[in-house]
Amino acid sequence: MASKYALFLLLLVLYRSASCDREHPNSIGLGCSLFPTKHPTSWLSPSGHFAFGFYQNGNGFSVGIWMMSEAENTTTWTANRDDQLVSSTAILELTPDGKLLLRTDSRNSKLIASVSESASYAAMNDSGNFILYNKDHRIIWDSFSFPTDTLMGGQSLSRGAALFSSVSTTNRSTGRFRLEMQYDGNLVLYPIHTLNTSLDAYWASNTWGNGHLYLHLNSTGALVLINNTDSRVSNTLYDGSSVFNKSITYRVVLDSNGFLRLYSHSFDHTYEYKTSLEWSEPDDKCTVKSFCGFNSYCTFDDYQPVCRCLPGTNFVDMDEKSRGCERNFTEEWCGDSGRSVSSRNIVPMENMAWDDPPYSLAEMREDDCSKSCLEDCYCDVALLDSDGYCKKQKLPLNYARRDPQASSTAFFKVGFEGVKGKQTGGTTPEKRPTVIIRTKDATVLLLVVTLGLVMWSFIALAISGFFAFKLRFLEYRKLLDRGDIGLSEELALRSFSYKELKRATNGFKEELGKGSFGAVYKGSLSRGKRIVAVKRLEKVINEGEREFHAEMRVIGRTHHKNLVRLLGYCAEGSKRLLVYEFMSNGSLADLLFRSQRRPDWNERVRIALEIAKGILYLHDECDAPIIHCDIKPQNILMDDFWTAKISDFGLAKLLMPDQTRTFTGIRGTRGYMAPEWQKNNPISLKTDVYSYGIMLLEIVCCRRSMEVNVQRPEEIVLSSWVYRHFEARELEKLVWGEEIEKQSLEKLIKVGLWCIQDEPALRPSMKCVVMMLEGITDIAVPPCPTASSL
Ligand SMILES: *[C@@H]1O[C@H](CO)[C@@H](O)[C@H](O)[C@H]1NC(C)=O
Ligand SMILES: *[C@@H]1O[C@H](CO)[C@@H](O)[C@H](O)[C@H]1NC(C)=O
Ligand SMILES: *[C@@H]1O[C@H](CO)[C@@H](O)[C@H](O)[C@H]1NC(C)=O
Ligand SMILES: *[C@@H]1O[C@H](CO)[C@@H](O)[C@H](O)[C@H]1NC(C)=O
Ligand SMILES: *[C@@H]1O[C@H](CO)[C@@H](O)[C@H](O)[C@H]1NC(C)=O
Ligand SMILES: *[C@@H]1O[C@H](CO)[C@@H](O)[C@H](O)[C@H]1NC(C)=O
Ligand SMILES: *[C@@H]1O[C@H](CO)[C@@H](O)[C@H](O)[C@H]1NC(C)=O
Ligand SMILES: *[C@@H]1O[C@H](CO)[C@@H](O)[C@H](O)[C@H]1NC(C)=O
Repeated sequence: MASKYALFLLLLVLYRSASCDREHPNSIGLGCSLFPTKHPTSWLSPSGHFAFGFYQNGNGFSVGIWMMSEAENTTTWTANRDDQLVSSTAILELTPDGKLLLRTDSRNSKLIASVSESASYAAMNDSGNFILYNKDHRIIWDSFSFPTDTLMGGQSLSRGAALFSSVSTTNRSTGRFRLEMQYDGNLVLYPIHTLNTSLDAYWASNTWGNGHLYLHLNSTGALVLINNTDSRVSNTLYDGSSVFNKSITYRVVLDSNGFLRLYSHSFDHTYEYKTSLEWSEPDDKCTVKSFCGFNSYCTFDDYQPVCRCLPGTNFVDMDEKSRGCERNFTEEWCGDSGRSVSSRNIVPMENMAWDDPPYSLAEMREDDCSKSCLEDCYCDVALLDSDGYCKKQKLPLNYARRDPQASSTAFFKVGFEGVKGKQTGGTTPEKRPTVIIRTKDATVLLLVVTLGLVMWSFIALAISGFFAFKLRFLEYRKLLDRGDIGLSEELALRSFSYKELKRATNGFKEELGKGSFGAVYKGSLSRGKRIVAVKRLEKVINEGEREFHAEMRVIGRTHHKNLVRLLGYCAEGSKRLLVYEFMSNGSLADLLFRSQRRPDWNERVRIALEIAKGILYLHDECDAPIIHCDIKPQNILMDDFWTAKISDFGLAKLLMPDQTRTFTGIRGTRGYMAPEWQKNNPISLKTDVYSYGIMLLEIVCCRRSMEVNVQRPEEIVLSSWVYRHFEARELEKLVWGEEIEKQSLEKLIKVGLWCIQDEPALRPSMKCVVMMLEGITDIAVPPCPTASSL
């Protein structure tokens, strides 16, 4: 009896697994399954040109759709492309309850199509679309709506959607480039991890404007942008063929090198399977941004684009050049003076171009530009452009290229050869025929050859004498600068004991102020020679001492002339203290709102730019981006020379490990908080841009963002008051009684209004803000900051 029952159960199981009902030859019924190595491995379209199922990928398998021929299978779609490959024991099943499920083993499974409704049957369409239908024959899910890197004839890329390139033709995981169909109607190519700014874009359809456009590839191969409102073709990128031919299929792919390409495939059996490239953008590889990695530049060698390292850098990984290059000599330490103290050389290179905004820009002659960079320890490279502007930059450089049309000269700061540097194995010396290298050593060598031995010994004597003198002089200067040998600044951060700091602050006697993190005390180190500010942190959530050390090291690595420098810290038991350089001239809030000496216009413009550069450094130039989270005038301090420096950066993380949570309760600075705080939306770099914008308007108008003691109620909120006057074109009313150049005033107001847009995507990046302030880019007329919420 028992054995009969078991047999019945077995039969039932066998029946269930075989009960794939394909009542219609072209449809896949509930209960059907696919296997990586057993038949069936895929479901075919009626024409047999497309298949959906398991395909082999290295040692494992992926689920996807491919276009088939005898010569070649072309993958057009991959399910869960960034997931791990599955093994040969996996099963893909359209379950009896209407789900498309991938079972990786007996316990784990994953949905391929997430839909709320249950499917009745599926179909692999001849267009390359895999579709799930409900019982009313309505489409409830299709692969065309979730493109990866490919569009097939008949497929669209909707507004706000994007194609992401694959790692390579064999590895279909997300690669390095994206094609965005933007809400503004523009179709744009960007490197993957960048913001949506024109600085990062390397190709665009230039179709922004009023229209609500989406991209469509039709069945005759026309690639067009279609107006959502009236469904008419608004722009044609490629015309396609004039006649419809059912044996030809079109495909648009964002390939792994960042090109957008349109191919035609002919399936006609009387002909050989044929693939031809019909259209491709952009034209040349060196215009694809991030084709080469950081600190490398793109150039042509025998008509082939190649990536080469900038002078003074070597490839991070010789086998993977797109990872970029790193400096092969030790970075300079910037002392208090900001002047370069160590021996460095300059290598000039012609025809170089890049888009990274410089931190300093001034009109100069060639020699002065080169010299100015050599002497400025913040400068890694200076670019003298054709207009005679010397633009100084820090590494890393993005998107650098050699452009024969660019009549500019770059001056790279390099270490003297033989300086201890990182050894990158297998570095082959690069042939660089077009680069002119003029070094001091070469000059000396020339002298040796021409003037003979006697002269040589003479020169050698002179040089060694000079260096000996210079070395001593430098040592002496260093000592003077430091005024203290005990506090070793070269060793980045110092860890203090609580007792030391208690003594240094005389028992926390002189309180300088109370910030959002706790009180700040004046103290002195090395027997009164160095005045410091000691901050005693309260409410630190992250109690772990190790984490705190790690956090401090991150902050300690940030060096910029517009950031207050952290000298050391103390972590003992529950005590957390930070030691900063002392800022003698108080905060920007004091200067703007309280002081008798209202700063004049030029000074305010300078301060605004200095702060922007400090934030840009935190956002773009550190190892990992740092969101400040609390930009406000109270957190901008002024040093002896009235240079603005940002304080308290990097601390938000200590108070709030999860940066996606709002901490309105912890902080009280309402006026500067971006709307996403209130809406509990995730915060981003753009949150700082908002706070900067509010502060910029305060700097312009020398008044607080909220002021209750005003004559009319509409003046209470600074931002709306400014926008009202901006709209009415009466900016002079914002700065009563001051003689200010109208252009300059308008520029700052416009930047401020762009920064405080409710919609984070509309706010510019700090890179862009700096460029606008420096007058490098034009500024469009900003819309009303709160338009989106009205
Ligand atoms: C293409 O896919 C089919 C079906 O999975 C397979 O039989 C064939 O061998 C593949 N062709 C190539 C060239 O890989
Ligand atoms: C299915 O393929 C046919 C022929 O290629 C096409 O006309 C039709 O629009 C496709 N249907 C869907 C839903 O993609
Ligand atoms: C594909 O590339 C990604 C990212 O580079 C990598 O993590 C993954 O292991 C690769 N997959 C295969 C099958 O090589
Ligand atoms: C870029 O814009 C698209 C929509 O056009 C949006 O989905 C995406 O999040 C934006 N990316 C960034 C980094 O702002
Ligand atoms: C899209 O269509 C609407 C309505 O016809 C029209 O007002 C708008 O100008 C069109 N946009 C573009 C970019 O053609
Ligand atoms: C595809 O678009 C082009 C350009 O708009 C048009 O001329 C052609 O008729 C379209 N083809 C089909 C099959 O709709
Ligand atoms: C369709 O294309 C095939 C191959 O390119 C060609 O042989 C055939 O003549 C075309 N058919 C029509 C109707 O144009
Ligand atoms: C650093 O790189 C440059 C070329 O970029 C090379 O000339 C120099 O020898 C390298 N120095 C070291 C120490 O590797």
